[in-house]
Amino acid sequence: MVDLPAKIRVEGLGVSYGDKIALKDLSLQIPANQIFGIIGPAQSGKTTFLKAVNRTIDFVSNATVKGRVLMDNQSVLDASSFTPVKKLSNNGMRDLCGYRRRIGMVAPLPVGLPMTIYDNVTFAPRQAGIRKKDELDTLVERCLTQAALWDEVKDRLDTLGTKLSGGQQQRLTIARALSHEPEVLCLDEFSIAIDPVTTMRIEDVLKELKAEMTIILVTNLVQQARRLAKRTAFILNGELVEEDTTKKIFSGNASDSRTNEFVSGIFG
Ligand SMILES: Nc1ncnc2c1ncn2[C@@H]1O[C@H](COP(=O)(O)OP(=O)(O)OP(=O)(O)O)[C@@H](O)[C@H]1O
Ligand SMILES: [Mg+2]
Repeated sequence: MVDLPAKIRVEGLGVSYGDKIALKDLSLQIPANQIFGIIGPAQSGKTTFLKAVNRTIDFVSNATVKGRVLMDNQSVLDASSFTPVKKLSNNGMRDLCGYRRRIGMVAPLPVGLPMTIYDNVTFAPRQAGIRKKDELDTLVERCLTQAALWDEVKDRLDTLGTKLSGGQQQRLTIARALSHEPEVLCLDEFSIAIDPVTTMRIEDVLKELKAEMTIILVTNLVQQARRLAKRTAFILNGELVEEDTTKKIFSGNASDSRTNEFVSGIFG
């Protein structure tokens, strides 16, 4: 059983891209203030799941969506049958951009804005109307510290973000995702391009951050989910095979034999 309250509840979620079904009738609950792991082989629908949750699926013109997503019990996506994304309503949300700001997103490769480290972190807060220099300074220090990057860059905040190493750029991406104080942080294979030492540093950061937010960790490194997540969902070919405590999923005694095979490296 899931410890309540659920931060996010997904009910009967389906996503298709044209004729290609990417997610089929997926239902699960993501508890608040935990790291929730999502594992599955390539092309299984993991990124699609995150896009539906943060409503960036709306930008994919050939997508249709079905089902419901709720955050804090409020509907943020609702379609009783497969609906083209351009016809999705805002579900009574005054502002879909405002909803997206409640969710931080970290993509597999760093997505640096072509600007200084300082401006990368303050971009979203400035857009949201924060202008005071001391407020922005405090925010930059907080986000870079949370992303375990502050000590390495505090003396060169005016350097271009793109001049940092790959691992540093990914931490800058995380700092940026944290800059609008998201309630939910989605990480999509964040460590794919960074070294193991930096990966472990960020993993330590995530363990701390969960006190402040709900974290959805999509990873094809099953051991990363094992290390970090309290509960884990296994998605295969767009279907939820099962969702359980991480302990159970990795026990070798999960409910579905495909889970046991996947986590033991027999396929994927
Ligand atoms: N815009 C799109 N148009 C058509 N098909 C798409 C589109 N985006 C994703 N797909 C397909 O949907 C399926 C699920 O893709 P998705 O990116 O969600 O998988 P994933 O589990 O994140 O894979 P990976 O581990 O490779 O990142 C794949 O077969 C993919 O090719
Ligand atoms: Mg993906």
